[in-house]
Amino acid sequence: MNRNDIIISAENIAEQREYSLKCRELFACRLGRQPRACVVTFGCQQNEADSEMIRSMLHDMGFGFVSKAEEADLVLFNTCAIREHAEMRALGNVGQSSHVKNANGAIICVCGCMAQQTHVEEKVKKSFPYVDILFGTHALWRFPSLVYKKLFYGKRVFDTQGEGVIIEGIEPLRKEPPNAWLSIMYGCNNFCSYCIVPYVRGRERSRDPEVIISEFTKLVEAGYKDITLLGQNVNSYGNDLDCGIDFSGLLRRINDIPGEFRVRFMTSHPKDATKKLFDTMAECDKVCKAIHLPVQCGSNRILGLMNRRYTAEHYLELIEYARSKMPDITITSDIIVGFPGENEEDFKQTIDLVEKVRYDSLFTFIYSRRKGTKAADMEDLETAEDKQRRFDRLLCVQNRISREKNELYLGRVCKVLIDGLSDDESYTYKGRTEGFKLVHINGPKGLEGTWQNVKINRASTWALFGEIVD
Ligand code: 5AD
Ligand code: SF4
Repeated sequence: MNRNDIIISAENIAEQREYSLKCRELFACRLGRQPRACVVTFGCQQNEADSEMIRSMLHDMGFGFVSKAEEADLVLFNTCAIREHAEMRALGNVGQSSHVKNANGAIICVCGCMAQQTHVEEKVKKSFPYVDILFGTHALWRFPSLVYKKLFYGKRVFDTQGEGVIIEGIEPLRKEPPNAWLSIMYGCNNFCSYCIVPYVRGRERSRDPEVIISEFTKLVEAGYKDITLLGQNVNSYGNDLDCGIDFSGLLRRINDIPGEFRVRFMTSHPKDATKKLFDTMAECDKVCKAIHLPVQCGSNRILGLMNRRYTAEHYLELIEYARSKMPDITITSDIIVGFPGENEEDFKQTIDLVEKVRYDSLFTFIYSRRKGTKAADMEDLETAEDKQRRFDRLLCVQNRISREKNELYLGRVCKVLIDGLSDDESYTYKGRTEGFKLVHINGPKGLEGTWQNVKINRASTWALFGEIVD
C-alpha cells in the first residue's frame, strides 16, 4: 500500500475538526451546559494511547470528563479482544450501561479491538440495542463525524470499514506528567497462531521518525520524564520506511534529545530482537535497562505451532547476551499456558526456561481460543482443570523467583521517579525504578514527578519499599 494511502490526510483531519465544532454546538444547544464524557478503557497500553486520542477529540467537541458513567452524557468503552475474558468483561460493562442510558439518555459508544470484529458488530446490532455508536480501530479518526451523525440523524451508527492507517495531527490528551506513552508504530505482521491482534489492528506501519522525535521532544519540554515507546513489535520499526532507520537508530536519536528523562519500550519480539538492539540499550544512558521479551512457551514444538519463529535455545542466547552487556537488566515476559496440544513435557520445558531465565516478573495467561485465528482450528484435548493446575504451578515458581529477585535490592539505593500516591496505607508515594519496579516510599509533601534516591529496606513478590536518602 502507498504511504499516502496509509496516513490520514491533513484535509481529512481538518474535516473531522469541523465535525467536532458542529457537535460542540449541538451539545451546547441540547444540554445548556458543558457535556460530560466517561471513557472506559480495557486492555493494553496501545488501547490507553488510543483513548488519549479519543479524549482529545471529545475535548474538541466541548466535553469535560467524569469517571462515573452515571454522570456522563456520553459513555465510551474502548475494548480489548485478546482473550475471551477481556471480551466478556467489556460486554458486561456495556450491558450495565443500559441503566445509564435509561436514566439520563447518555450516548453509548463501543470501539477498539473487540468492535473491529464482524461477529461482534453483528452481536451488538442485535443484542445491545442501547449502543448508539460502534466503530473499529481503523475508524478511530472518524469519531467526530460518527458522533455528529448520531446527533443529527438520531440513528445508530456502525463503522468498521477500512484498513490500518496512521493518524497524525491529533494531539493525544495525556495524563499529567511524569509518565507518557508514545506510539511509534501500529499493527502487526506476525500472525502468531493464537493471536487476534493482526486481524483487528492491521499490518505493521511505522510513524515517520522526524514526527516521533518532534513529539518526544515536546513531551520532555512539557515535563514528561518516563516515556514508553509503543508498538506490537517495536523491533521491526522502520521495516516499512525507506529512510534507512531501524529501531536501534530511533533509540539513538531519542537518546540525543536534551533533558532529564528516561525512555523504555514495548513490546519486543524475540525473533527480531538483535544483539545490535542490546548493544544500543547498553550504550544509551537514557534508555532504561529493561526489556519485556515475551517468550510464550519453553517448548520448541509448541513455539512452532504458535508460529513464533524462534527456539527456546535462541531465546536463552538472547537473554545471555543482554545480561553480558547489562548485568542489571530487568527482564519480563508473557507466557501462555494450555496452548492446543501442549502436554506435560512441553509445560515442564516452560518451567525449565523460567527457572533458567529468572524473570523479574511474568504475565501469565491461560490460552483463549480466538475466532478466526489459526490455532482456533487446532485440536485441544486438555481439560480446563489441567490447564488451571499448570497455570498455578507456573505462578508458584515465578512468585518465588520474583520475590528472590526483589530481595536482591535490599540495602541498595535506587533512582526512583515518583509518579503518584501509594495505595499502601503505610507509605506516601509510589514510584518506579529504571527497571520499572514498583517502589513504595515515605516522604514529605510535593514530591510527585521528582527523581529521588531511595534506599530499599523491604521487598515482597510484587514491590519494593524504601526511604528517601540524599
Ligand atoms: N490466549 C491467551 N493469551 C494470549 N495472548 C495473546 N493472545 C492470546 C490468547 N489467544 C497473550 C500473549 C501476548 C499477550 C499480550 O497476551 O502472551 O504476548
Ligand atoms: Fe499477537 Fe504475535 Fe503480533 Fe504479538 S507479535 S501482537 S502475540 S501476533
